[in-house]
Amino acid sequence: MPLDITFLGHAGFLLSDGSHTIAIDPFLTDNPVAVHKPADITCDYIALTHGHADHMGDSVRIAKANDATIVAAFEICNYAGSQGVSKVEPGNPGGKIMTPFGFIALTQAFHSSSYDGVYMGMPCGVIVNMAGVTFYHCGDTCLFSDMKLIGEMYGVDVAAIPAGDRFTMGPEQAAKAAEFIKPKVAIPIHWGTWPLLTNDVSGFAPAGVEVKTMQAGDTYRHG
Ligand code: NI
Ligand code: MN
Repeated sequence: MPLDITFLGHAGFLLSDGSHTIAIDPFLTDNPVAVHKPADITCDYIALTHGHADHMGDSVRIAKANDATIVAAFEICNYAGSQGVSKVEPGNPGGKIMTPFGFIALTQAFHSSSYDGVYMGMPCGVIVNMAGVTFYHCGDTCLFSDMKLIGEMYGVDVAAIPAGDRFTMGPEQAAKAAEFIKPKVAIPIHWGTWPLLTNDVSGFAPAGVEVKTMQAGDTYRHG
């Protein structure tokens, strides 16, 4: 079964198997590159890598509008609950949550995580298994060699890897990450959104991995 992967811009995605849709880090309002508005998003799950505003984005509003389940770190789920989101599935790195379409797992990421000055738990990467395709969103992170282990444990088909530098890896280190993870396809994310992030990911050229550079609004069908 194919998986439709739509890039929302910055670090946001919609993944759909035709009957279920998950939004990851749906940051649309105030996102200068986004082409979707929060009201355009129909989903039954939302996964969040961490609490920063460029990842939490419109998730509370989208969750309420769709009665969607938020999957994220324990502290983010507590926050979402306090904002009136009724369905949450809290987790932490290493854990896996079974879903009607497959599973969502949280992995390690090296970053920080807060929202409005409040601690939002561990920053995470998110692994989504849907339609038999395994998608690894690395979250915001530096390079770490256990990405190799994550690739081995989950058998990653598609990896979304931050490559914009300053707050995450830059393109060359992101390429090394892709070589560790060994996905079939790697998508550079978290670049070019603002002048603080690099606007040139030509250095993201991992050996043996196909690179797909997506613009906001693009959909790539995998499988
Ligand atoms: Ni961040
Ligand atoms: Mn970020």
